[in-house]
Amino acid sequence: MLYAIQSFMTNSSVKKKKIFIKSYGCQMNVYDSNRIKDLFVNQGYALTNKIEEANLVVLNTCHIREKATEKVYSDIGRIKKIKNKRHKNNFKLVVAGCVAQAEGKEIKNRSPLVDYVVGPQSYHKLPEMIDNDYSNININDEFLQNEKFKNLLFNSTNKVSEFVSIQEGCNKFCSFCVVPYTRGSEFSRPVEEVLKEIQNYTANNIKEIILLGQNVNAYHGKGKDGKSKDLAYLINKISELDKLKRIRYMTSHPIDMSKSLIDSHGTNSKLMPFLHLPIQSGSDNILKAMNRKHSVKDYIEVIEKIKSVRPDIALSSDFIVGFPGETDKDFEDTMRFVEKVKFVIAYSFKYSARPGTPAQKKDNVDIKIKKARLKALQSLLKLQQVNYNKAFINHNLEILFEKEGRYKNQYVGRTIYNQSAFVSHSKNLINKIRKVKVLRSTDFALECQL
Ligand code: 5AD
Ligand code: SF4
Repeated sequence: MLYAIQSFMTNSSVKKKKIFIKSYGCQMNVYDSNRIKDLFVNQGYALTNKIEEANLVVLNTCHIREKATEKVYSDIGRIKKIKNKRHKNNFKLVVAGCVAQAEGKEIKNRSPLVDYVVGPQSYHKLPEMIDNDYSNININDEFLQNEKFKNLLFNSTNKVSEFVSIQEGCNKFCSFCVVPYTRGSEFSRPVEEVLKEIQNYTANNIKEIILLGQNVNAYHGKGKDGKSKDLAYLINKISELDKLKRIRYMTSHPIDMSKSLIDSHGTNSKLMPFLHLPIQSGSDNILKAMNRKHSVKDYIEVIEKIKSVRPDIALSSDFIVGFPGETDKDFEDTMRFVEKVKFVIAYSFKYSARPGTPAQKKDNVDIKIKKARLKALQSLLKLQQVNYNKAFINHNLEILFEKEGRYKNQYVGRTIYNQSAFVSHSKNLINKIRKVKVLRSTDFALECQL
């Protein structure tokens, strides 16, 4: 207990304890890391970006692909050297996130120097675990979504844009994916709770909110009247906040793109014309084997409906190549599909067999073929991105400026279509929305003039 009391004392005679947090993987982990930071800052900790000077190190991990998981174990190996030089009571190592959930016991066996293991639905317990120094119950992998959100703090971390987790978990069970096991079944936060969190941020002049969920468009949180509300309702409610100017949401599943959500893209001017809608493959055979619950035609129908209400919608997606059983023809179908739809940006991955998933034991596409397919797909996607951005040269676009750029007087922000853009200007533009003219497009960003 002395540990907690000391850390609360913030006067100059007692040095503050320091916390170092590393986030792996998705935006939801970034959000969770911010909440973990808030919990410990509230306990008197200061944040540090130097692991060597930390008293508490939290690795907030990702389990989605094998590479992400292995990175955690190699980082633990490096931290071991630092920890060995420190007094064991003055350097605690926490593994949080989805690897913690999936491999809690294995982590403790493989790396005895890890002090606490805590899953993504119980990390609100971390301060209590550390205060009480639970020595024999130092793994917490309970699914406590409801309790978790009620016990978190929501301090604004950014100046312009904030992530807000509104939905967690997944009931879809795509055959390649660990999320239903690591994050649990679908859970939606109540509307009022989400609104309250966002009001915290708008009071701090935040202008953009990015609503997060593994299946964000399956959102069905309870409204004030006790009835279940959908994502379109929540977006419309949020958009009533005057200070808020931009709303985005991710990640969506094609089968949950409801009429009300699609219509919101045509009616709600604060909802940005950008949609991240993973399809994973352009072959119906593979979509079936992936248990995606939709066909290529279903997907195209969804985007046609959105385009009918918002013709300029910018589309983004995720793809997996080399899924078990993927033939040359299946892959060709993916390439033809991409050529047809034209994505403004998309993420693509080699299939990675994940423990406990139905597809795990079927991994049968040669690694060389996976690599070649990934290269071909990424070149096509890059070409589409470059062409998309080039088409804006000499056009005007609205940018919300987020931060300073690499050079003096340079400011970086995002267009309504989520492109990164920058300008040089003598006045500070951070947190301002300005119309700019696009001068040039580089591989990653638009160079603009105010
Ligand atoms: N192998 C490769 N990529 C995967 N993804 C999820 N699981 C796997 C896996 N086992 C990708 C999907 C998903 C994104 C977040 O990660 O494309 O949409
Ligand atoms: Fe994973 Fe599929 Fe659920 Fe997305 S919809 S989180 S890919 S199981």
